[in-house]
Amino acid sequence: MTTATKWHIGFALLLLATALVVGSLAAFAFLLPDGIALIPFRQLRPIHVSAALFWIISGATAGLVHFKRVEFGETRGSMLYTGFLVLWIGTILAVFGFYAVNQYGGREYWEFPPLLAVPLLFAWLLLMADYFRAWLKRTPDPPLYVWMWSTGLLFFLITFIEQNLYQIPWFRDNYLREITVQWKSNGSMVGAWNQMIYGTALYLMVKLSGDEGIARGRKVFIFWFLGLSNLMFNWGHHIYNVPTAGWIRHVAYGISMAEWIFLINIIQGFRAKMTEQRIHRNIITYRFLLASEFWVFLNLILALLMSIPAINRYTHGTHITVAHAMGTTIGINTMILLASIGTMLGMDALPDKERRWIKIGRRITTVSLLVFWFALIAAGLLKGYRSVALGMTDFQAMMQPVNNVLYVFAYAGLGVLLGLGIVVWAYFNRLLQPSS
Ligand code: HEM
Repeated sequence: MTTATKWHIGFALLLLATALVVGSLAAFAFLLPDGIALIPFRQLRPIHVSAALFWIISGATAGLVHFKRVEFGETRGSMLYTGFLVLWIGTILAVFGFYAVNQYGGREYWEFPPLLAVPLLFAWLLLMADYFRAWLKRTPDPPLYVWMWSTGLLFFLITFIEQNLYQIPWFRDNYLREITVQWKSNGSMVGAWNQMIYGTALYLMVKLSGDEGIARGRKVFIFWFLGLSNLMFNWGHHIYNVPTAGWIRHVAYGISMAEWIFLINIIQGFRAKMTEQRIHRNIITYRFLLASEFWVFLNLILALLMSIPAINRYTHGTHITVAHAMGTTIGINTMILLASIGTMLGMDALPDKERRWIKIGRRITTVSLLVFWFALIAAGLLKGYRSVALGMTDFQAMMQPVNNVLYVFAYAGLGVLLGLGIVVWAYFNRLLQPSS
């Protein structure tokens, strides 16, 4: 592994650790504003969300750059990649610097001053130049994961630009226009990083099972096509509060659900292959991939329920949306990224004693995340029931029992912090070993 990739992985892990610590602080700052409010919730939230999103994008690009090098037979690092890393890391540090002094100005999830979008855009262009230069050396009929990496990179660029269109007065002069473009682009951007992350999941499945068939054939190409349609059209269900035709939302939901069903199906096929070939089940990469399958399944059920209009009436804008956001970013994206980074660091080559810690961390995470996720759903249902069915308007009175459930969420969050913290610590240890 090159030194640049080590920096890339180290920075991504640091972002994950920040998201975990600040997320836990934010949960208690919300519940005890006078207690531990050294830093208030409104300041902690953007730090947490930006750290979480930058963790996912940095983790996804680290895997993509490293595995494409193996795939396209590159032997040396490149200046383009180094340039990307310097700009990327420098700008993200500046983002947190601005948050620290209460300077905002951006939009939801990207709340930093808008000018910082410029170096991020340049960094992305350098990354794309590095990738597509190597891509020219691909085999004539590349496996699906190469297509997924390529489209993920390209669509991230498109959605990032779209997300920044509000900087042009015509877009922000009309509130409805601005919010529609914001929600649409944020939804599509999730589709773009999913292409990169699911592409890496597919790559790992091929390498673990030794079966290239997993990334070839009609079924996986339908999966890719659904992923692409999803990132182009899933915005339909992200703009619920904006007046649009109902069928747009339903088509969008249908596509999103179908993509997940295909992903579960592909992972199940991979699992069957591993069993058939009697490949040892105790592999770290394998375990994290299976964990992501479990969370795809749970989030699929939640998303299907949320899409029923009679249920959505109660759940919209409650903590159920937060359960959906964190259930997918922690349960699916983070699990696949930990499989990917674990593979890059060669964690499976370590002695059993050291690997045991990762198993313990993973188990603590699974149990805590389940409690965390169900508590958010329960809080959302309770809030929806009290505001919509009981018609309560006094916010304090309405939130009183909801806050009790949110305590369960906050304590379970400490479990997630501990579980994932153990994994991050083990990965860092490995990263700092000279042989990694
Ligand atoms: C890998 C780790 C994590 C990731 C990727 C992540 C991701 C996210 C995302 C995407 C949101 C925005 C949700 C929305 O706007 O709907 C969010 C919000 C939040 N997260 Fe996390 N999170 C992580 C860990 C944690 C942990 C351990 C806690 C501890 C309790 C936590 C507490 C919160 C809180 C309090 C919010 C704000 C919710 C609100 O505004 O109502 N997160 N997180």
